[in-house]
Amino acid sequence: MITKYVYGDPLDTGAITAKVERAARVEHFAVEEGADTISFSCPLGPEDIVYGLGETMGKVNKRGGRYISFNTDTAEHEDSNPSLYASHNFLIAEGAACFGVFFDTPARVTFEIDWQGSGEIRVVCDTKDLNLYQIENGSAYAVCRDLLRAVGRCYLPPLWAFGYGQSRFGYMKEQDFREVADLHEKNGLPLDFICMDIDYMDQYRDFSFDPKRFPDIEGLVRELKERGIHLVPIVDAGVKVEPGEAVYEEGVAKGYFCRNKEGGCFGAAVWPGMTHFPDFLNRKAREWFGRQYRFYTEKGIEGFWNDMNEPAIFYSEYDKGTKRLGMLLELLGNMLFKKGQKEKKKQELVRNYQSFFHDADGRRVRHYDVHNLFGAMMTRASGEGLERLLGHRYLLFSRSSYIGAGRYGGVWTGDNTSKWEHLMLNVRHMPSLNMCGFLYSGADTGGFIGDCGRELLLRWLAFSVFTPLMRNHSCKGTKNQEAYQFGDPAAFRTIIRLRYRLLPYIYSEYMKAALTSDLYIKPVAFLYPEAKGIEDQLLVGDSLMIAPIVREGEVQRQVFLPEEMTMVIYDGEFRCSPCPAGWRTVHAELDEAVFFIRKNKLLPVGKVISNTREYDVENLALLGDGRTYELYTDDGLSLDCTTANIRTLVKEEC
Ligand code: GLC
Repeated sequence: MITKYVYGDPLDTGAITAKVERAARVEHFAVEEGADTISFSCPLGPEDIVYGLGETMGKVNKRGGRYISFNTDTAEHEDSNPSLYASHNFLIAEGAACFGVFFDTPARVTFEIDWQGSGEIRVVCDTKDLNLYQIENGSAYAVCRDLLRAVGRCYLPPLWAFGYGQSRFGYMKEQDFREVADLHEKNGLPLDFICMDIDYMDQYRDFSFDPKRFPDIEGLVRELKERGIHLVPIVDAGVKVEPGEAVYEEGVAKGYFCRNKEGGCFGAAVWPGMTHFPDFLNRKAREWFGRQYRFYTEKGIEGFWNDMNEPAIFYSEYDKGTKRLGMLLELLGNMLFKKGQKEKKKQELVRNYQSFFHDADGRRVRHYDVHNLFGAMMTRASGEGLERLLGHRYLLFSRSSYIGAGRYGGVWTGDNTSKWEHLMLNVRHMPSLNMCGFLYSGADTGGFIGDCGRELLLRWLAFSVFTPLMRNHSCKGTKNQEAYQFGDPAAFRTIIRLRYRLLPYIYSEYMKAALTSDLYIKPVAFLYPEAKGIEDQLLVGDSLMIAPIVREGEVQRQVFLPEEMTMVIYDGEFRCSPCPAGWRTVHAELDEAVFFIRKNKLLPVGKVISNTREYDVENLALLGDGRTYELYTDDGLSLDCTTANIRTLVKEEC
């Protein structure tokens, strides 16, 4: 049961699409109204678990942490950092009582969950206008599903979006993309898409290809598509200030950019130098921005990643020393006086966010007060535009997000580092993102910053096999990280091929979850209360439990089986054996993956294929001790996705 309590005159964020009854009062929380804030506090029992908050640091159980919803371009994925790229203000308490609350405001919100042992949840919203959604149900799992139902149908990617993707900041020219495709093929590594980072652009300008380095982009798109590989360009939020350029000129003429204090277009420097931000909170500006993707779709492109949409600002027209020299000095200062500089930079960002404005369909709002909605509305603009342009499904994932954006696209979790802690962070993010309606998600596999070694990449891939977005991405200047860069590629081949053999399951489970407001990845305790507190094992779809190896140098780990399951070790073949309930030690070499099929469940597996063009569901093997499996199948592209596309497979008795 979901109800809503309204404070003041909140902006409609579009997060909730269901019609929700008004509540007479706020349950569970004591409420305190300050001059510019509304605060909520609620005592916690010592055993209560608090789930949710999507993309935040900390564990799956958010107790002990302080998290601030304030979308930030940050590579500091450390527990001391309260704000990442997204704001997912939904938390679920499970214990003596079980309820969920969604603080639906795009303003800054601070969550202290048993912070420093306070024994309470304390939430401070920096606004007087707020829609507060409260959900009462019997379990955390049921509460999450109520939220997903109220948000509305989740984004449905095309089948090829579930293939393996290769990406790198630093692929400079057409030949680089051919080479990536060739080397995957040559090494027997399946591949469905290659991401194009900002280097494809002409001076980092959205909706452009550098004419010298990409003389025949249509030809390249066609050639790779014929091989079953899609090109996926990045699109940044800021439109380069470039008099004479059509997109820039039209945006200015029609008033589609955010305004500065003086009423002109707000200038903020990002990769291309000075840019203007499209006013994504304005319906007409959204439609206009969405139409611009035609530049790509008419070249045969059907997938995108949206970036820098917190929005990131390197410096603005209001900053002193706005020129590049200023930036250099600042970088130097950062290194010398790290802490003070960081604080200064933060304050400068806040000042910038306070100095531009949106026309939210007739209502003038200061960016700072709606900050957390910007990236989500960019996703909406692109998603709606792409659906109109293509008339079929598209691939789209974004760095910044807010609840509700999961209807239009997925997310990736930004600039992580090639270290084991960030593989674990990826494991923790997945269930929390699912709880907030972001089913299509994943991290930069192998890590973005720093050099990734063979062992870390193999273990990370073995986890990413199960995340809907499986993309290897790394930063310029780091060691090359493609799966063929580590000597003998045999182990990489085994793991990436496993993804493809599991595709009938992964695609089915994703589509069924998306169509029925379910989670694709969830904590084990959502189905087995006795697994309470276990965070390094996850349920993936209805049949599988995974227990990834996330520590350096380890080839075995302890796994808790809440009931008897079928253990599967994949080394090129699926080796199944029954595994009794309880704590077990499982072993997996670097060229192996281990996972479990739940009791009375089945896992459909296919043959080795080189990409989803060869996807075949007619010759599946069914592993596990269940009797039937509900397989979702369709053409992988059209918008006609319903549960009518599910058919029952029956396992023949041996
Ligand atoms: C940002 C993105 C990263 C990308 C880079 C260059 O840091 O998060 O993925 O490679 O910008 O576009």
